[in-house]
Amino acid sequence: MRVLVTGGAGFIGSNFVLRTLATRTDVDVSVLDAFTYAANPASLLGVDGKEVCEVIRGDIRDAELVERLVQRFDAVVHFAAESHNDNSLVDADPFVSTNVMGTVNLAKACAASDVRLHHVSTDEVFGDLALDDPTRFTTTTPYRPSSPYSASKASADHFVRAWVRSLGLAATISNCSNNYGPRQHPEKFIPRQVCGLIRGRRPRVYGTGDNVRDWIHVDDHNDAVWAILDRGEVGQTYLIGADGERSNLEVVGDILAGFDRSRDDFVHVTDRPGHDRRYAIDPESMEELGWEPRYRDFTAGLAATIEWYRDNEDWWADAYDAAEAGYAQREREL
Ligand code: NAD
Ligand code: TYD
Repeated sequence: MRVLVTGGAGFIGSNFVLRTLATRTDVDVSVLDAFTYAANPASLLGVDGKEVCEVIRGDIRDAELVERLVQRFDAVVHFAAESHNDNSLVDADPFVSTNVMGTVNLAKACAASDVRLHHVSTDEVFGDLALDDPTRFTTTTPYRPSSPYSASKASADHFVRAWVRSLGLAATISNCSNNYGPRQHPEKFIPRQVCGLIRGRRPRVYGTGDNVRDWIHVDDHNDAVWAILDRGEVGQTYLIGADGERSNLEVVGDILAGFDRSRDDFVHVTDRPGHDRRYAIDPESMEELGWEPRYRDFTAGLAATIEWYRDNEDWWADAYDAAEAGYAQREREL
């Protein structure tokens, strides 16, 4: 099977590539990535310093390139996106062009060449839940996105469904909860606090810190994507989650404990405008495919992630400094 991985130099995509190469001898992987600020070329280097697979430097917004390229593959696994909510609040334009138009280009090209598409989306398309709401997101939850990021992902999902129903595209969609693990850009919550602590800086918690996220290890997400590629039904949507609901205060306390610091040794900073309160996934659609998470102990998975960042400062140092320069302009201690 020949698989093209878009966004394969980013967090989840690079973990997908490395895990696929390690576990699937029947699969040939290539990467298409524009290498934006979010990509790290080092994520795709082997111990010999060479790229672990074919890496094509190109943009999913380039319709002609995408059309030409997908013909060589049996399937496209589509991770490429602008992925950070905070950035989408500063400038929504790249979110619209990459997440919406880039996805439409892939849908068109895959439909034209009869190539299977798996579109990787997020639970944020459903908006948020109240902290005391007993329900979780299911495959029938209406879309109610709150940020330009989640609105662009919601729009992309709708376009993929439209191409399946009306234009002959063979696609599946997955909406996953918040991922953690190695190789995540230090602009995101967990690596930002971990890298900051390694640098001797106290964690920054937006607003009260009561907001809840449903954490899943990146390898569990990627195994779920393979379960969908192997056994999923074309036209279906799958919700991926690992029963990992935790408040930001709990997560930051666990990170601090990993550094032998007091659980409340952090600062509250300006809240995110429109900050979603809680996400929670009902993973029934994935359980029906026979998938279940392997990382059930969040504290152990977090400890291994902290270890990875301690061992790989070269990987994150420049990206951390660049992200902090941006945060410094818009964030103040409360
Ligand atoms: P990331 O920001 O770490 O990586 C995105 C990658 O896409 C980067 O390598 C970047 O260079 C590439 N890219 C961006 N624009 C491109 C373009 N126009 N053409 C080609 N490549 C481009 O993102 P991530 O956290 O790995 O997320 C991957 C996917 O998973 C996204 O679609 C995201 O919406 C989805 N998702 C993420 C999470 C999460 O917790 N991180 C959860 C659920 C779903
Ligand atoms: P993030 O990693 O940006 O993911 P998402 O917005 O997709 O959930 O943020 C996770 C949570 O952590 C979210 O509630 C915002 C919060 N947060 C902080 O409290 N401090 C931070 O420095 C960052 C980056 C995020």
